[in-house]
This record gives sequence, C-alpha cells and structure tokens, in this order.
Amino acid sequence: MANGAIERVAVIGAGVMGAGIAAQVANAGVPVLLLDIVPPDVQEGGDRSAVARAAIARLRKTDPAPLMSDEAATLIEPGNIDDDLARIGRCDWVIEAVVERLDVKQALYEKIDAVRRPDAVVSSNTSTIPLARLVERAPSGFRSRFLITHFFNPPRYMRLLEVVTGAETDAAQVARVSRFADERLGKTVVRGKDTPGFIANRLGAYWIQAGIAEAVDLGLAVEDADAVMGRPFGIPKTGIFGLADLVGIDLMPYINANLAGSLPKDDAFHALGRDLPLIGRMIAEGHTGRKGKGGFYRLDTKDGGRVKEAIDLASGVYRPARKPDTAALREAGVDRAGGDLRALFDAPGSVGDYAWRVMGRTLAYAARLVPEAADDILAVDDAMRLGYNWKEGPFALIDRVGAAWLVERLKAEGAPVPPLLGQIGGRTFYRVERGRLQFFGLDGDYHDVVRPEGVLLLEDVRRRAEPMLKTAAASLWDIGDGVACLELTTRGNALDDQVLEAIERAIKLVAKSCKALVIYNEGRHFSVGANLGLALFAANIAAWGEIEKLVAAGQKVLGALKYAPFPVVSAPSGMALGGGCELLLHSDAVQAHAETYAGLVECGVGLVPAWGGCKEMLARWSAPGRLPNGPMPAPAKVFEMVSTATVSTSAARARAMLILRGRDGVTMNRDRLLADAKARALALVDGYAPPARVELTLPGRSGKTAMDMAAAGFRRRGVATDHDLVVAGGLAEVLSGGDGDPTAPVSEKEMLALERVVFMRLVRTPGTLARIEHMLSTGKPLRN
Ligand code: NAI
Repeated sequence: MANGAIERVAVIGAGVMGAGIAAQVANAGVPVLLLDIVPPDVQEGGDRSAVARAAIARLRKTDPAPLMSDEAATLIEPGNIDDDLARIGRCDWVIEAVVERLDVKQALYEKIDAVRRPDAVVSSNTSTIPLARLVERAPSGFRSRFLITHFFNPPRYMRLLEVVTGAETDAAQVARVSRFADERLGKTVVRGKDTPGFIANRLGAYWIQAGIAEAVDLGLAVEDADAVMGRPFGIPKTGIFGLADLVGIDLMPYINANLAGSLPKDDAFHALGRDLPLIGRMIAEGHTGRKGKGGFYRLDTKDGGRVKEAIDLASGVYRPARKPDTAALREAGVDRAGGDLRALFDAPGSVGDYAWRVMGRTLAYAARLVPEAADDILAVDDAMRLGYNWKEGPFALIDRVGAAWLVERLKAEGAPVPPLLGQIGGRTFYRVERGRLQFFGLDGDYHDVVRPEGVLLLEDVRRRAEPMLKTAAASLWDIGDGVACLELTTRGNALDDQVLEAIERAIKLVAKSCKALVIYNEGRHFSVGANLGLALFAANIAAWGEIEKLVAAGQKVLGALKYAPFPVVSAPSGMALGGGCELLLHSDAVQAHAETYAGLVECGVGLVPAWGGCKEMLARWSAPGRLPNGPMPAPAKVFEMVSTATVSTSAARARAMLILRGRDGVTMNRDRLLADAKARALALVDGYAPPARVELTLPGRSGKTAMDMAAAGFRRRGVATDHDLVVAGGLAEVLSGGDGDPTAPVSEKEMLALERVVFMRLVRTPGTLARIEHMLSTGKPLRN
C-alpha cells in the first residue's frame, strides 16, 4: 500500500493552521481526526479534548468560512494527544501542525512513530524548521515516510502547498501526498528545497521587509507605498502594509530573526535585516494588525462613525487615511496592471526610487533563489502567484522589465548580479515556441511547461489554435474530442446583448461541427451577471423597449442553450450571479469549482430573475420527493432564497440550494475544472436528448398572498424596506404563477412571460433605478 489512496487523515495541532487544514480535508469529503493537547487546567471529569473541540466550533464561525458545508464539520473528529493518539493508527496521512518548537515536534514524532500505521505518511506544516533537524532523532523507517507540507493561511483559500523532502524521503510517498493535495485538496504543489523559509516566505519576507524599511527611509506614506507596490505590479491592492496588517505585524520580527539566523552569511537578506523601532513599538502597544488593535491601518470609531486611519511612519501617530497620490504613477502610465515597468522604475522622485529599491531588488533576489531554494523558475513564480496572490511571478515580471535592463541597473548601483540573470542575457525567461509555453532552465535551454495529467487550460489552448469564433464579447475554442468551449471575455464576464449574440452563434457552430459545449473561462468570476450599466443607461433615456428586447433575447438564447441538440456543461468558478447563475440553470450539467459563489441576486437591485431563473428554480424545487406535496412548498422555498438574494458560499452550498443537482460535479482544483467539465460533457453525448419542457403546478393568488404576508412580516421586524416589499411582491407574483386557475399547469412560455412583465414593471420604479445606480457606483447594495 505504499501508494495507497488517502482515505483518512489525522491533523495534530488544532491551532490556526491545523484546524484550517482539517477543515479543508473535510471539505474534500475525507474523515479527519483533529488532536491537540489536554487543557492544562482540565478538571476531573472535564472535557480532555476541549482544545480540539473548541477549534471545530471556531471553524463554524470564522469568516471567511474555512468549511464549505455543515456536513464537512461532522467529518472532523476531535480528540487529545494523551488519550487518542493510538487512533492515528487508522489514518493514512498524519499532518503535524503544533507550535513551532523543535523539541515539541521531535517528541511528538516519537509518539506518532510508535502508533502510526506502517504504511502511513507523516508530514509537518513547519514554516521555519529544516526537515533535516525535524527528523535528526527519528529512525530511518520514519524518515523515509516523512516530508514537509507547508500550507498557507487560510488553508481553504490559499492554493499553494510547498512540499519539501529530505534525502531519505521515499518518492512514492511524495507522489501520494502530492496527488491527494492536488486532486482532493485543490492545491498546486510546488517543490521547494530544505532551505530557510522555503520559497514563498523567503521571497515574501524579503519583499515586505524591504517595502517597510524603504518607505521609512524615503518618507513615503503607507497609502502611497501600497499604491506603488499593488496594482502596477499586479499585486493585491493591500500592497505591503495592508498585507503586513493581515498576516500579523508581530510575526515579522520572528520571521526576520529566523531568516537572519539561518540564511548563509552572503545572503542579500542580511542587508535589509535591521530592526525598525516603529515595529517594536507597534507590537508592544498591541498594534499587531487586523487581529490586534489595528496595524499600519486601523478602523477607529469617532463621533459614532468608523474612520479609516493610517499610521505616520515617522511619528508613529495615526491620522485619517487618504486616497493614495497616484499622479506619478499616472504620468508613468503604470497606474493600472500591465503598464511599462521600466517607466515605473525610472519614474522621478520617491515613487521610482521606492519601486526600484523594493521590487527591483526583490526580482534580483528571486533570481538568486534558483537553484538555491527551488529547482526552476516555475516553482518561484507559482509560489508567489499562489502563496501571495501575485498575478504574475517574479520571473514573468522580469520578462516585462527585460533581464538585460535589470542587470544593467544592478551593475549601475554596484549590486552583484545573480548568475541566472547573467546567464539569460537578452533573452526572456518564458517564450512561446510552436504554440507551446516554454521556460528557461538552468541548463540554458528552454523546456515545455508540462501540465499535470488531467489539467487542461484555456490559456494553453489559446496559444496553440485560432478560435472557432471570436467577437468582442466571447470566443469559442475547440478543446478537442469534439468539444467546444465558450469563453466570455467581457468585464467580469457580464452578460449583454453581444454575449447573447455570441452564444447564439456558438450554438449554431457547435450543432454543425461539435458534439458538446462547455461554458468556462479563466477569469476570477464565471459571470457577475447581466450588465447593469447597459440597463441603467437605457432606463435613463427611457428606452424601455431596448430593455425589454434584452430580456426577451436572454430568454430566447438561454432557452436555445437548454434545448440545443447537444449537451451543454457550465463550469463556474468564483461568482456566478444573476444571469450568470441562470446560465448554470439552463445547462444540462454543471461541473463547478469548489469555490463557486452562485445565486439569483436580482432582488438585491430591485429586480426579479427574468432569463428563466424563476422558472428553472421552481422546476427544481417542484421535482417529486423534494418537498412536501402541494403547490406551495416550492414557490415558498424559492421565494425565501431569491427574495433575499442568497448566494452560495461554496459549490457544496450551491448544491443545497439546488443550483447544482445530483448529477453535477465539483472539482477541488481550479486547474482541473476544464478537463473535468469536458469529460462530463462527453459522458452526456451518447444518446443525448434535450430535456423535457417545464410545466409547473403553482398556487396562484393564494400563494402570492402568503408570500406577501411573509414579506410584510420582515418589514414589520425592520429587516425589509418599503422597496423590498415592492420587489418581493413582484417576485411573489411570478413564483405563484400569476392570477390564473391554480389547478391548471403553468407552461414554460407563461412563466417566461410573467418574469418579463414583472421585470419591466420593476425596472421602471425609482426605487429600483436608485439601487442599480448605487450598485454600479459603489459595488454595494442600497437599502431603500
Ligand atoms: P497556533 O499557535 O495557532 O497552534 C498551535 C497549536 O499547537 C495549538 O493549538 C496548541 O495547543 C498546540 N500545542 C502547543 N503545545 C503543544 C504540544 N506540546 N504538543 C502538541 N500540541 C501543542 O499555531 P499555528 O499558526 O497554527 O502554527 C502551527 C504550525 O504551522 C507551526 O509549525 C507554524 O510554523 C506553521 N505554519 C503557520 C502558518 C501561519 O500562518 N500561522 C502558516 C504556515 C505554517
């Protein structure tokens, strides 16, 4: 069983990381034992597993949620190390995530070794202790089955898993854990070497430390520093200071001291590693970041309101936060992603200096990490993309600047040039050769970037082929085996008339030359819904006919998709809202990324779903055996979800809402989504017949009255506004099937007509227009 499947996991240490890792294992549907110490003050007869139990209770309350469903929590079994360690004898993988102390970890391994299954694999989540030290006292049988699996916080959402192995680690065990982490936990496994900080934190700590120290030296305000480090480089807008607040400022001296103490003497890290008095003061005062009393930024309550404040780096005094000064960035043309980075590094004044001293040097440092900490540049780029949420890794950034330019600049300031930068000369680290992405290897040659089996990326398809169809709003790609992939390309993949037209054309093309269609894209969101900007524009000039045309077109196109002569599979990741959710509802099957946030949110902007969303949700909830008999339960259920604009917080929760059905699948690893969706589509091809038309039995007027009463109750309790009542009334009208005879079935056509009529009535109300306007300008719902 050296390569046996991993069917049961134990996590020891139920702190921030251990509990989070256990949650992700449970999210994968795998039972997990979570152990921690017996509380030192436990009374006779008291709960000896209270630490682990409290951790599980915390998981249910933490935001963002570590658990994807309530059922997942039931897969985590609490216990304590003194009484329950023998139970790890049933586990295939034991993950140690206890306090970062060598003595504690070593003592624990001895105990684990005594009770583990002989074929179990054991790993540590350590962030700083070398593997060689961890196992220096362990017998060789343990050493061959031991590795480091370094998760990032929070384990559900961070896609990076660094894997570090020792000289004696059995390759089959590494493959076993890596495969489980990839396919079941959804992680991208990056192999790092047994060097301090591994890859991501070594580079990340350098970058953050440089970012803070240089801002102090250059007298930059934290907002301005974060504006330089954020968007221009494709880095989250938290930049350096916002990130430090998130991670915890108290961790920084600890990480820095660790790196300073363990890195070789000639490492460039030492040149930065000075203590900043401000940091010590902030920690002493409890200003450790978001978990403390605020950090470089904080929210202060003043005069009854919350004000965002920022610390003055020179005086350490808080002042009101302000918008960053981006004039210099705009002038250099780098105020948005994808600008000319050389222009940024060359920008006059402190902006250019800051960019260079922090990021220029970080890029050079990254080049030093290969081969010292990583085997190739891919590992470094993946680590920063997935561990720090950079859009591009450092080597992709170097390509944008030009390696030769970077070398000249380093030489000009008398800095040493990392060998890899010398080696690459005027070439780029990445290139596309005959439609294949290649990377520069240490041997001086280019090599294909090889994706793991079961990974299919549109990004790669795009390099190799021309689209079957390309418009301003969407492209259609041949992804092989007779399957086509429709990729939306609008902002946020919002749906508008052009997208609808592209779908219509795609349906015709697929019917002619393919077997199945997958709807998928590699943006952050599957689709944020209908383009509200267009609707508002039309409303402002009272072009009601245009809006009605768009509603009718959406109904027609989604209907054509549903009844197309071939299977359609939607593969969402991120948000699938409003019209985006209706796309899912009109597909034959859905293959969803585990991180899918789907829902019919139209009521939030004062509208009702009108591209068949009400009809499809009713059909799903009306299926026999789903709810108690009778015409009322299904509309009541749909009313409850849609009137409150409920969005699933995971694919598992979308299943509970019936946005996903029994036959729909969930993919944990984002990179595997397209291949899984394609397989699902192909599985539907043989004997495919479009679904039967929907026919609903609905309660009519009495049903509407009941839903209106429910809404009025919310109004009385102050949780609904006056305009909510108007919108809910419209929704109730649709869901009850209108005014007709409640004993007569309601056809699909009648439902669509109802959706349209109510939508058009609502879109003309000032309350709804105010909501749409507010949503467009602030991104937040208006409560009016
Ligand atoms: P934590 O302090 O939240 O949790 C540590 C847990 O270990 C606590 O529940 C504690 O009760 C338990 N513990 C204490 N003494 C013990 C003993 N003698 N035997 C067994 N358990 C004991 O720490 P956190 O942050 O979860 O870190 C755990 C491990 O993960 C450490 O090795 C850390 O370096 C690593 N790590 C932490 C990351 C983070 O962002 N916090 C990220 C990646 C790795």
